[in-house]
Order: sequence, then structure tokens, then C-alpha cells
Amino acid sequence: MKPVLISGMQPTGHLHLGNYLGALKNFVNLQNSGRYECFFFVADYHSLTEHFEPEERRNYILDLVATYLAAGLDPKKSTLFLQSTTHNTELGWIFNTMTPFGELRRMTQFKDKSESDPHNINVGLFDYPVLMAADILLYNPSYVPVGEDQLQHLELTRTLARKFNTKFGKTFNEPQPLLTEVPRLMSLDDAARKMSKSRPAGCLFIDDTPDMIREKMKRAVTDSGKEVRYDPKTKQAVSNLILIYATLSGQSIKKIEKNYEGKGYGEFKRDLGELIVKFFAPFQKKKKTLLKKQVLVKRVLTRGAQKANKIGLQKLSEIKKKMGLVI
Ligand code: ADP
Ligand code: TRP
Repeated sequence: MKPVLISGMQPTGHLHLGNYLGALKNFVNLQNSGRYECFFFVADYHSLTEHFEPEERRNYILDLVATYLAAGLDPKKSTLFLQSTTHNTELGWIFNTMTPFGELRRMTQFKDKSESDPHNINVGLFDYPVLMAADILLYNPSYVPVGEDQLQHLELTRTLARKFNTKFGKTFNEPQPLLTEVPRLMSLDDAARKMSKSRPAGCLFIDDTPDMIREKMKRAVTDSGKEVRYDPKTKQAVSNLILIYATLSGQSIKKIEKNYEGKGYGEFKRDLGELIVKFFAPFQKKKKTLLKKQVLVKRVLTRGAQKANKIGLQKLSEIKKKMGLVI
């Protein structure tokens, strides 16, 4: 049997280049390697921790599924489903009873989100990492591809797996994170901060029009000096842009530096803009078509949920038996 791999994303807005290079691109590569039994889902219950109107939420969910499919996730190779159509929350409750309050209070994402939206510090936001642990462990995977900002949550997942195994007998693997070569893409307007949906000003969205991409690249901050050279310590902004260039073109950093020897930031950024426009053109075209085929998209999710639930319910029954819940 192939090792199981699982990941998900929240339907909270259009994906940016950080989401793509740190996570989605890797989902597709890992799926296509044929080495894993893959599960990818839309974390719609997690998105309830943020305010959206129902219609807006529904659109974001469909948009994310269309994004998954257009980027190359293939329902013939991977199981794709919505979190809210599974039994993840039941395991979430069980894990709630095993998670110390203090451990959740330390979570960086909770602290950041509470600070940025102090009027909506809901219990779900606090409990977010426990549901994430349940999302993962219900399918007993060996690997979880994510960006760097999710490592703390994954550590909690591993701790919960270990705790459960010690108390009730071996039940879960302790899943390993899989990071890409761009685990933390920085903002285009401030290279000291992570590119994040919560700060749209620094984001390049993979759905941006060609003109928007060109404009955003033109305005992307650079460093002092004018050499196109990779040095994350002294040239944080330019290094971030070189990393984007390297991953999208497949060229080595050395080769890029050589190509731009004696040329300025302006030319490099113009070329990078064109590279991004070309790279995402087929994706954008495919996504537009998929968004018109909602019946197909929904069918993919129904089939995916059936498969996920077969596996999840089996695991849940094993867990409940071990805990003395089956009489
Ligand atoms: P955001 O922080 O923009 O709201 P999400 O929390 O929805 O993004 O993240 C979805 C996936 O993308 C996660 O696996 C996350 O680790 C990854 N990710 C988010 N931002 C970045 C980034 N700047 N660089 C690399 N990966 C990222
Ligand atoms: N917390 C993840 C994010 O913000 C989304 C997520 C929810 C997830 N459950 C997961 C990712 C399980 C990997 C595995 O992006």
C-alpha cells in the first residue's frame, strides 16, 4: 500500500503566489509522482472562523475546488472533498478533550489573527489547530504538504497522535510535513513579511489579469544597489523575486544571476512579470471553463466524500472502540 498524504486549504479568498509555490504546486507534483495515496480537501469549517456572507462563502468554496482542478489535481488520481461533508469534527471533539488549553494559547496563527481582528476572537479560531489535527489523523497519513506557517499546527497533530497512541495503543502515524523550496514567500510590498491573504496589498494572486501582474511586478519593492543577486540576508526583496523566477522557470538561481549580470532590477522585474503571465495563462483559461461546470465540480466532491468517509468512519470506529465508547 502506498503511504497516505493529505492536505487542505481554507476557502477564504483567491490564492496568491505564496499559496501556490508553498503548497498547491507541490500537491500537484506529489499527486503526479504516483508514490502516494492522496487526499486534498477544502477546509470550509475552518473558514467559519472568519466572517463571510453565505453567498460569498459558497463562491469561495467553488472557486477553490476549481482552482485545485485547474492547477492539476485530478479526481482520478486524488480524493477531493469538502471538510464539512466528513466526520472530521467528531474526531476534533475527541482531541479537544486531550489538548491542554495552554498549548493552543501559544499558537502563532491564533495570536496573529486575534490581533488583526480583535472583535472576532471566537472559540473556533482558538480551537482551529485541533480540528486541523483531526482533519489529518482521521485518514492516518504519513505526510502533510504545507507551507512553513502551518508547522506549529502540525507539531500539535504529531503530539496528539503520540498521546493517543500511548494512552490507547498504536492508532496513528506521526505524519511528517513536506515543505517546498519556497516554504515562506515574502510580500511584494514588504519583504520582511510573509505574503498573506490578510494583507492583499503585498499579494500577487494567481487569478490576477496579465495587466495586474505586470503592474504589481513593476511596483514590487527591491533593495538598495542594482545587482540581480540572490542573497536573502542583504537582498531580501530581490532574493524573493529570484526565487519566484527560479521556481516558475525551472532555471537555477546561478543561471538567472548570470543572465541578468550588468542589467538592472527594472528589466528583471519586467521579464518576471511576463514569465508569471505566461505561466498562469493556461491555468486561468482552464479555471474559467471549470467555473461554468458546477455540476461536474459538485460530482467530484460527492465521490470524494464517499471515499473519504469510508476510510474516516472505519478509523473513527477503531478510535471509539479503543476509548470505550462502543458498548
Ligand atoms: P494565507 O496565510 O494567505 O491566508 P492560508 O493560511 O490559506 O494562507 O494557507 C494555505 C496554504 O498556503 C498553507 O499550506 C500555507 O502554509 C501556505 N502558505 C500561505 N502563505 C504562504 C507563503 N507566503 N509562502 C508559502 N506558503 C504559504
Ligand atoms: N490550516 C490550514 C491553512 O490555514 C488549512 C488546513 C485545515 C489544513 N486542515 C488542514 C492543512 C489539514 C493541512 C492539513 O492553510
